[in-house]
Amino acid sequence: MPKVFVVANWKMNPMTFAEAKQFFRAVNKNMKPSKSVEVVICPPFVYLNSQFAVHSSQFLRLGAQDCFWEQKGAFTGEISPPMLKNLGCEYVIVGHSERRRHLGETDEMVHRKLNAVLAAKMRPILCIGETAEERERGFTHRVLQKQLMAGLRGIKKSVLEKIILAYEPVWAIGTGNACSFEEAEKALHFIRRLLKTMGGVHIAKFLPILYGGSVNSLNAAGYVKQATFQGLLIGGASLDPVEFIKIVDRLK
Ligand code: PGA
Repeated sequence: MPKVFVVANWKMNPMTFAEAKQFFRAVNKNMKPSKSVEVVICPPFVYLNSQFAVHSSQFLRLGAQDCFWEQKGAFTGEISPPMLKNLGCEYVIVGHSERRRHLGETDEMVHRKLNAVLAAKMRPILCIGETAEERERGFTHRVLQKQLMAGLRGIKKSVLEKIILAYEPVWAIGTGNACSFEEAEKALHFIRRLLKTMGGVHIAKFLPILYGGSVNSLNAAGYVKQATFQGLLIGGASLDPVEFIKIVDRLK
């Protein structure tokens, strides 16, 4: 059985290192490790640089919420993939819709980041998804195709299998208005069909595709057991250790 991924995207939370530590402690103490679920925590950069985060657990994996595409140099304020790798990160989220919207990240920038993450021997989690307006106008497939093709442009078949995709309808993120399992599964099938043309049957079948957008402990299992996603990308609900542990438990 392939592993299921549960990725916690803390976004710009919590406000203090003490709170971040508390979360790691609570999860470590109360979460039962499982061979079938890979749990990845993506805290803000400032909490990654702590021995506490890296050594706090045998089974929690570390990820970053973003990175820059260059390795080092005069890029004020940026963090490079090798720096993240050196801190113990194994995953990096790229192309999250909040960065596309608030920071003006383009498909080209996302593509460069994805390549840089692969070059640093980490796994990129590429986020794609349509806005409410795009969905209403019937452009969902068009948007998914554009973001996917641009993000994965020119990636060698041999490294395609390192990539994880996350379907995150923008209108479902942080709104409490989660995408129905049926609609999410339609998008999933469309993405799989695209992957088949890009990477062949094997990639289309095995590349992990996660769902994200207002996931909680009540709907979590439906996306994986009903709609057949290989995991979840979780924002708000990942900040509450009790709720987060419940979500992981539902997928075991
Ligand atoms: P949410 O965020 O779970 O708070 O909707 C998901 C995400 O942005 O990845």
